[in-house]
Amino acid sequence: MGNTTRKTETKSLNRSLHNAKAAKQDEFYTQYVDIQKEVEAYLEFDPDTFRGKVVYCNCDDPFESNFFKYFAANFNKLGLKKLVTTSYDGSPIAGQGILFPEYNEGNGKRPKPKALAVILNQVKDEDGDGAANVTDVELFLKRNKAARTALKADEKYPGGDFRSRECIALLKEADIVVTNPPFSLFREYVAQLVEHGKKFLILGSQNAITFKEIFPLIKDNKLWLGVDNGGTKWFQVKDDYEIQTESRKKIVNGVKYFSMGSIMWFTNLDHGRRHQRLPLMTMGENLRFSKHKEIKGKRGYHRYDNYDAIEVPFADAIPSDYDGVMGVPITFLDKYNPDQFRILGLSRYTKTNGMSKEFVDAYYKSGQTGTISEGHPDLCYYDHSNRPVVPYMRVLIERSKGKKK
Ligand SMILES: C[S@@+](CC[C@H](N)C(=O)[O-])C[C@H]1O[C@@H](n2cnc3c(N)ncnc32)[C@H](O)[C@@H]1O
Repeated sequence: MGNTTRKTETKSLNRSLHNAKAAKQDEFYTQYVDIQKEVEAYLEFDPDTFRGKVVYCNCDDPFESNFFKYFAANFNKLGLKKLVTTSYDGSPIAGQGILFPEYNEGNGKRPKPKALAVILNQVKDEDGDGAANVTDVELFLKRNKAARTALKADEKYPGGDFRSRECIALLKEADIVVTNPPFSLFREYVAQLVEHGKKFLILGSQNAITFKEIFPLIKDNKLWLGVDNGGTKWFQVKDDYEIQTESRKKIVNGVKYFSMGSIMWFTNLDHGRRHQRLPLMTMGENLRFSKHKEIKGKRGYHRYDNYDAIEVPFADAIPSDYDGVMGVPITFLDKYNPDQFRILGLSRYTKTNGMSKEFVDAYYKSGQTGTISEGHPDLCYYDHSNRPVVPYMRVLIERSKGKKK
């Protein structure tokens, strides 16, 4: 075997190992309460958000997914027209379900489909106890075998893959897609929703904000953050799910949970929070009264050395009366109200004047380590004691013109 062939094979083996690892890491399941809290926030803003709509959960094994359970149990309360849920052939839990007894009956030789579409057009009070809930869904599915179909692989994708032909056909019929998709395919996943002009409410990692495919959508108000993004969200995982950090792991009643740091809702459904104005003080008031020691009692806000804007290190320290461009932390987006501010860009994708030689020299002389050199595009400034600072990525914003302060 030639060297080149061996190298290519090793590369492709590494890639498939990497993909397999990423796919395994994608297997964590959202808790019912997190879905409920988020969906209810949209209902508070507009009780008809889901009324008459076809909801599609396209990364959801109905045996496992609380998205399926939540929308099935609340089918009538939300006024859904239809609920479509598809499971994925590549999932390690594919075909293990207990909801559909026909696959568990007999001698067990009946092949279980690995990917399924479950389609609910109604949820009636099947057991006559006066409620239409998950038990009624189970009974409905028991009696109504037509409510589910096996999904087949096509020439490119396994059955139930959100990119497969059958799933795209279901997507086209849907009004709102709601799920927690595989984070490793987040870019592609969102691109597909946008391409098909769908409404969506999905979970993703805070990092995704900074992706070059995602940030422009945020900037253009085609995608924004949902409501419940604070705090730690815990996701259910299988016992063999690898969790390196002890503090990100917990076991409750024998069930393993994992917390992944900053997980956020991404959506294009309107909600009340994005119309709340961030209460702010003027620049003068901030310099006198701010709770942040970096601002209170200081001469002024820092100006970047290589870009015409001021550095605002905390969202609640944005001066209400400043008319120019401001660099704010990414966490600002959780408080972003498009009537109050306009997003101009992300520092990572903004053309600055580059770092000057003086700045770079002063930076290394001050004992800091990092990889900068003359012309480096990151924003930078000198602080009040003349120490050179390179802040973490900033969102560049300005006050919406013609709006009240
Ligand atoms: C982060 S998990 C969330 C599962 C479920 N939506 C929930 O929130 O409980 C992502 C799921 O997407 C499935 N998945 C991975 N790749 C997929 C693909 N290409 N198409 C559809 N589903 C996929 C995985 O099997 C996994 O169950």
